[in-house]
Amino acid sequence: MNFSLKKDFRLGVATASTQIEGGDAGSNWNAFSAEGKIKDGSDVSRATQHYRLFREDADLLASLNIRDYRMSLEWARIEPEEGVFSDEVLQHYREELLYLKNLGITPLITFYHFSHPLWFEAKGSFAKRENIGFYLRFIERCLARLGDLCSDYITLNEPNVFASMGYLSGEWPPEETSFFKMIRVMNVFIEAHISAYSLIHRVRSEAGFGASHVSFAHSMRVFTPFRKSIVDRLSASLQRFLFQDGLARACFTGQFRFPFRNLGHVKRGQYADFIALNYYSQSHVRLWRGTLPPRTPVNDLNWEIYPPGLIECCERCFAMMPVPIRISENGTCDNDDRFRARYIAEHLELVSKSALPISHYYHWCFIDNFEWKEGESARFGLVHCDYETQVRTVKQSGHFYADLIRHGGMNDDMYRQYVAGQTYKLANSGKESINRVDAAGVKN
Ligand code: BGC
Repeated sequence: MNFSLKKDFRLGVATASTQIEGGDAGSNWNAFSAEGKIKDGSDVSRATQHYRLFREDADLLASLNIRDYRMSLEWARIEPEEGVFSDEVLQHYREELLYLKNLGITPLITFYHFSHPLWFEAKGSFAKRENIGFYLRFIERCLARLGDLCSDYITLNEPNVFASMGYLSGEWPPEETSFFKMIRVMNVFIEAHISAYSLIHRVRSEAGFGASHVSFAHSMRVFTPFRKSIVDRLSASLQRFLFQDGLARACFTGQFRFPFRNLGHVKRGQYADFIALNYYSQSHVRLWRGTLPPRTPVNDLNWEIYPPGLIECCERCFAMMPVPIRISENGTCDNDDRFRARYIAEHLELVSKSALPISHYYHWCFIDNFEWKEGESARFGLVHCDYETQVRTVKQSGHFYADLIRHGGMNDDMYRQYVAGQTYKLANSGKESINRVDAAGVKN
């Protein structure tokens, strides 16, 4: 098995501030974990101490040949009190960006990745349209200090995930369980994205910082009916529309379909310079719920592993908005690094064969980190973090990734060294799958 990526294809990694920085930033997640709401009892203030260790981490990125880095800014640190911006924290991010630049690493900055200051939470956060101005002011202040060091931005990470986890299932803060509120939050997010998109372009161009590339990171999955029944088919289409397509169309183009509503005066237009797509899994829908068919390959969180879905999702987005595509997240929870290399190889092989204009792939995640409600017990990193000692160790999948970048793809030797023999767990069977390519008779 081998494949070559397009000549200018960029392989990077992604992180998010709350998940790696550590410390008490005064965010909704600090409060939530301090209340003991994380499944394994861990606290977000530990994480991987990246705020302190960012130089070590940047050196590690460079040593793995990584030159594209998606990261986020911690709003709660930058604006600890309403209207009070910390020069020290902005200076910290400036130093981090300069450090990356000196190593030849290009950042892609996310302004909002699920966490915000507690004062913003107290105001009702993104459930209220009148709060959008606070988010925009935060972006403007960041651009004034950092905007010369970065040209590529993500306004919001996965508005659909935050809205459904925080307002429908109630598993994340603020633990609400109202369908109508979830839709309201999505509507506010749409307007926030579109306003931020225009703001970033305007501010950077007025400051003479050069061209900007802006999008929002959209979480997509494949919704497949579990049975052929009309109920499962309808449910899958409805979930696909509510969870992803309706919101994506509104964010990309300013065109709203019920229940998405134009709360402000958004004009139709183009509000993304590239598609930023986060893809992990497929859902088989039975009635309203996700159900695992027997013998489906799954990861350590029991998420289905379905590589073709990555391209299917890219196609769906591209049909709505034909602009270049970046896979802004893709990766898997594999606590012992037993199948991550195979997962990466299978997804990238399909990317290499696709005719779509996919320009970047950011692996989630660079390093093991605080996985929201799962805490420290779900490992997604190419680099292992010992949370007690904060020692970093590059995993086999991390070495594989460095080789993928060095070679612009995977050759047979790499396949034999890293991928051959890796198996996935099969749902509800207690068995392991054999590697697709091994099964086709390739000798290891
Ligand atoms: C999020 C990340 C998260 C990852 C794995 C994405 O939905 O953007 O923050 O860690 O999935 O769950």
